[in-house]
Amino acid sequence: WLNTIIALVLGYGLGSIPFGLLLTKAAGGGDIRSIGSGNIGATNVLRTGRKGLAALTLVLDLLKGFAAVWVANHLLPGGELAAAAGAFFGHLYPVWLKFRGGKGVATYAGIMFGLFWQGGVVYAITWIGALLIFRISSVGGLLAALMAPIAAAYFDRYDLVPLLCACTLIIFWKHQSNIRNLVNGTEPKIGKSKD
Ligand code: G3P
Repeated sequence: WLNTIIALVLGYGLGSIPFGLLLTKAAGGGDIRSIGSGNIGATNVLRTGRKGLAALTLVLDLLKGFAAVWVANHLLPGGELAAAAGAFFGHLYPVWLKFRGGKGVATYAGIMFGLFWQGGVVYAITWIGALLIFRISSVGGLLAALMAPIAAAYFDRYDLVPLLCACTLIIFWKHQSNIRNLVNGTEPKIGKSKD
């Protein structure tokens, strides 16, 4: 259980690094939370017009999830699930931002690749495929999140299903305003502004 606790804390520490906020500030782009949807994720960083910064936010938010599980895999046997949960919750509820973090789509991809690569591939294909078809970030993220526990069950990773179901539910919870916009037909396409 010591490994589990260390993995949870390590995962949370990594996951709670708000790359979108830090990078936008460092680049002189102000506080990302006062722009667009107010989210600290790559989609909102893109609304500042800085494509490179948005791509970097996406990659780093993904990598922190992957890194947490990878470290647990190699150094903290038995701590993989705790590391994944820690990173995911760290990103969504970072103590440094009064627990108001991101929506979790990129970090979810990272923990999926860390936990089982097949799941990461299913997640990524769903995410990218939906983005290409619908060109709405939240649709891609929500569909990918929906596929995560399904992929775990399909590949007989039933040990992952409870955690992934919880993550997917929380992702939907965090996307309430996006879902409302989708129902109203006002959810913007990628790169478009939003108020
Ligand atoms: O990952 C976040 C994305 O699904 C939606 O972001 O800024 O449009 O609320 P945003």
